[in-house]
Amino acid sequence: MNHIISYVSTASKSLSNSDIKELFNFVEEFNNKNSITGILMYSNGNFFQILEGDEETILVLFEKIKKDSRHYDIIKMLDKEIDTSSFFKYNSSFTTRLGDQPIQIPENLIKQNDQAEHYKSTYYLLQKFMSHP
Ligand SMILES: Cc1cc2nc3c(=O)[nH]c(=O)nc-3n(C[C@H](O)[C@H](O)[C@H](O)COP(=O)(O)O)c2cc1C
Repeated sequence: MNHIISYVSTASKSLSNSDIKELFNFVEEFNNKNSITGILMYSNGNFFQILEGDEETILVLFEKIKKDSRHYDIIKMLDKEIDTSSFFKYNSSFTTRLGDQPIQIPENLIKQNDQAEHYKSTYYLLQKFMSHP
């Protein structure tokens, strides 16, 4: 059974840019090795994360992430069973738009799949987060 969890959270004040880069590298490597797809983004003091994969793996991982002192005030937006993943792989080192440039979600990031019911919500959340750097 596949599962998706998506949330936003507030990054701890003590977190430096290099701490965030280090976290991004760790997450990208671990998740790709463990067949977890999705994205971790940081923008203006907030994290946005999408985790997709085997239900047990995702739920156990999310319990661990919730206890991580590098962030707080976690607001969950999606937590449900899914048929198919929306992402090709796990991505993290990702920048949001600058100024008034239109938001471009790279084509190779998310599968353009209107059939997957969670696709619209995933795309919407991604777009919203990316438009508020
Ligand atoms: C915002 C945020 C997102 C995280 N996302 C993941 C993740 O997707 N995968 C992961 O393995 N660890 C993630 N972590 C790190 C975990 O909380 C934890 O530190 C890591 O899994 C190592 O755990 P361990 O020391 O018990 O092995 C995240 C941490 C934060 C603050």
